[in-house]
Amino acid sequence: MTESPRHWVVLPAAGAGRRFGGPVPKQYLMLRGRRVIEHSIAAFIEHPLIAGCAVALSPEDAWWPETAYANHPAVKRVDGGAERSDSVANALTALVGQAADADWVLVHDAARPCLAAADLDQLLAALADEPVGALLAVPIQDTVKASEEAFDARVERTLPRQQLWRAYTPQAFRLGQLREALAYCRAQGIAITDDASAMEQLGLRPRLIEGRTDNIKITRPEDLPLAEFFLEQQGHQEP
Ligand code: C5P
Repeated sequence: MTESPRHWVVLPAAGAGRRFGGPVPKQYLMLRGRRVIEHSIAAFIEHPLIAGCAVALSPEDAWWPETAYANHPAVKRVDGGAERSDSVANALTALVGQAADADWVLVHDAARPCLAAADLDQLLAALADEPVGALLAVPIQDTVKASEEAFDARVERTLPRQQLWRAYTPQAFRLGQLREALAYCRAQGIAITDDASAMEQLGLRPRLIEGRTDNIKITRPEDLPLAEFFLEQQGHQEP
């Protein structure tokens, strides 16, 4: 009899946060009495289906030991890499041995502290009958324009928004297949900004699970009060 796959979490948290700026890296800013990264980990670590977590941090990161999870038995620290995808790949490698190739790995940005329990449950439920994997995403409401150059100020064309989604995290894939996909992209020099993109490069089609819009990624200073508000709305108490 084959054992049912377990579920692991990988948290890329090795970014420099250049768009945010400031002396404290954005994942360590305080939000309703806890650090951003503590909220992000807490969403998973108490969940009965989550077996463990690997957090990818900059080797110079001196903030981590101050957090509530630094000595948690189910949370492992791993060195991150130059790009987000390198950080994820390193964390996946750290799970090898403990986790099986067919186990699910949920990759979640450390900078998304407002993941609601209902969204996590929805994603986990979708994996039960899913061969490839799935991600939380939100349909786009605004009209989307494309410009020729990355920062060109003129519209090149308008994209049909009916089929466009914002890709959020967590994104869940099988450990073995995600490692293969990331290694393939790296070898081919394909730059990717999320894990589903790597799977797509292998010709696979991850399932889109419509999630809540409050699962924002803290990118700019104005995102912090917004995250504070969302956590309050979700009923998070100050410790
Ligand atoms: O840069 P961006 O906001 O897309 O980063 C998303 C997540 O990936 C953040 O939690 C960030 O810390 C992480 N990251 C990483 N390693 C990098 C770059 C980003 O773990 N080299």
